[in-house]
Amino acid sequence: MRIAIINGPNLNLTGQREQDIYGKISFDQFMTACRDKYANQEISYFQSNSEGAIIDEIHQQGKLADAIIINAGAYSHTSIAIADALKCFPKLLIIEVHLSNVFARENFRKQSFISAVSQAVICGMGMRGYDMAIQYLLGKNQEVG
Ligand code: DQA
Repeated sequence: MRIAIINGPNLNLTGQREQDIYGKISFDQFMTACRDKYANQEISYFQSNSEGAIIDEIHQQGKLADAIIINAGAYSHTSIAIADALKCFPKLLIIEVHLSNVFARENFRKQSFISAVSQAVICGMGMRGYDMAIQYLLGKNQEVG
């Protein structure tokens, strides 16, 4: 399965910024562990602080990937353009991830334009949220019970 992880603004500083909220692990550390753990899967990683670059990456991955795991950072709460870009690829599985529990924070974080175009949303699990999303995608055909 081809999985594209796409991160938005300020997530390049994860591990340094607001550690009490976002944790102490950087995405470089996470991606190294992730590539080890899922060595047989094609998992790409892209991060940008600019909305247009994120949209361009979605357009690229929309043609290449089976699934996108996206944390659009603060753009989640503002960007109709990123949500529209995801909607351009109806066959794509989309999982929205947030490191923090956005529902336990300021009101403006409780709305996400990305949630409405995602199959699932994971928040509040830190980096493990991305791992959970990958596990869900890989076991998507498995039923419980
Ligand atoms: C975030 C939550 C957003 O509200 C915030 O702007 C971020 C990170 C998260 O992963 O918890 O930059 O997406």
